Amino acid sequence: SGLKYTEPYRPQYHFSPGENWMNDPSGLLYHNGTYHLFFQYNPAGIEWGNMSWGHATSRDLIHWEERSVALLARGYPDNVTEMYFTGSAVADVNNTSGFGVDGKVPLVAMYTSSYPVSQDLPSGKHIRTEQQSQSIAYSLDEGETWTRYDAENPVIHNPPSPYAAEFKDFRDPFVFWHEDTHKWISVTVLAAIHKIAIWSSENLKDWSFASEFGPYNAVGGVWECPNLFQIPIKGHPSAKRWVMVLGLNPGGPPGTVGSGTQYFIGDFDGTTFTADPGSIYPGNKSANWMDWGPDFYAAASYNGLPDGHVVQIGWMNNWQYGAMIPTSPWRSAMSVPRQLSLEVVNERVTLLQQPHHSWRSVVHHQSSKHSWKAVSKGSTRLCSPGKAVNIDLSFSDHDSDHSLASTFAIAVHASSDFKQETLVGYNFTSKEVFVDRRHSGDVSFDKTFASLYHAPLSANADNRIKLQIFVDWSSVEVLGGQGEVSLTAQIFPDGDATEARLVSDGVTRNVRLEINRMDSAH
Ligand code: FRU
Repeated sequence: SGLKYTEPYRPQYHFSPGENWMNDPSGLLYHNGTYHLFFQYNPAGIEWGNMSWGHATSRDLIHWEERSVALLARGYPDNVTEMYFTGSAVADVNNTSGFGVDGKVPLVAMYTSSYPVSQDLPSGKHIRTEQQSQSIAYSLDEGETWTRYDAENPVIHNPPSPYAAEFKDFRDPFVFWHEDTHKWISVTVLAAIHKIAIWSSENLKDWSFASEFGPYNAVGGVWECPNLFQIPIKGHPSAKRWVMVLGLNPGGPPGTVGSGTQYFIGDFDGTTFTADPGSIYPGNKSANWMDWGPDFYAAASYNGLPDGHVVQIGWMNNWQYGAMIPTSPWRSAMSVPRQLSLEVVNERVTLLQQPHHSWRSVVHHQSSKHSWKAVSKGSTRLCSPGKAVNIDLSFSDHDSDHSLASTFAIAVHASSDFKQETLVGYNFTSKEVFVDRRHSGDVSFDKTFASLYHAPLSANADNRIKLQIFVDWSSVEVLGGQGEVSLTAQIFPDGDATEARLVSDGVTRNVRLEINRMDSAH
């Protein structure tokens, strides 16, 4: 690309576009040994606009190559008449769509057409100003170039009845192949009324309305970017559950402002998604949070992976301040890919997230390991690990006791005087893992940014607290325990904030720490 990826704050092993604005992953597809990442993209600037689908590919989910724009807003740049909002992509291996010719497998993208002005389309359909409808396009060259299905688009013109055609926030189709019923399923949102509308099709072109789901749990803002997939329960080979993930904006987890992601565990029969009773909290009082931090949104899962494998990527930003973050000439990065699994923990089916193993290929060979029987009260300086690191930190849990710590943390991206630092730690009293970015660097661009975020986490079977921490030039991601909680937060530290230390307000016992420097994936 010619770009060096050495600008201030540039992510080293998280995907970010060379330049310009990016938001949601819009089509995560594994096909023929290649991971495709399509994303919401403005080809003309570092704020949202001219929404098109950018494209990057990878063989391993960590080294990415940005490719030319896959779907460029219609009429761009002079007179945009259709933008391509969030959607998804599939490989139509049986050529159900008939788009395949000469034995080529068509890749089919389904996206929201957002029309700024009223118009009559070639398909004969009339579009109202600001209408959102669902359309498709296909590629016969592994995603390089796309042909829109202009003859019939949009393929889902209006929300299902009884919702009036005037209802405009209808978007974000997530398509997948449902093996049991041998049909394509598309999951969309009726954003403002907190409903999911599910559709089915035999050919990706003709869709029938199947059912709706919601509102449940968190409804603080609009519902967006739904995702539905099946995962086996570990240790119970024949038991599988379905998981529905969706974004809400605003109305994220307690203590955050802006965007958040929640999920439901349940069952899907090809028509209806039914959430397990344990997944629903009456009175919209609570939610199952996919991530407890401020910067994990519009999470989507890969199509085309082997059965039972679910890998998810989220947009590592927040609509609250997304357009103000101090990066240039790009804005936004994606989270590390996360492998999801279900496991019975304390008699409850629990969703776990682990980093996809791809990160190991960019670990610098030098890593440092430490262990302490006890870390005493105060500050323990570590040798400067730099700005892109992977950290494994674990220690014994304990109940409150005046000689023992009530909080213990590792500070990363610290300046040499430690006036600037980001803390990742544990509160033994509230049993919460936290990320504190109040003094993380540039926090000036938004009044809610300088905050502390927390997530409930209890010790594992041997009474230890375990944290996996991914630090990049402008982010921290924390996975707690076996991955039952995650916390993702952007930070904008000074370029020379490369130090680290442990900070404890009492004794913390049996501490084990491993720090791996991460190389650039560029
Ligand atoms: C979520 C979202 C989607 C929409 C897209 C537009 O981040 O608002 O609902 O399709 O962004 O870029």
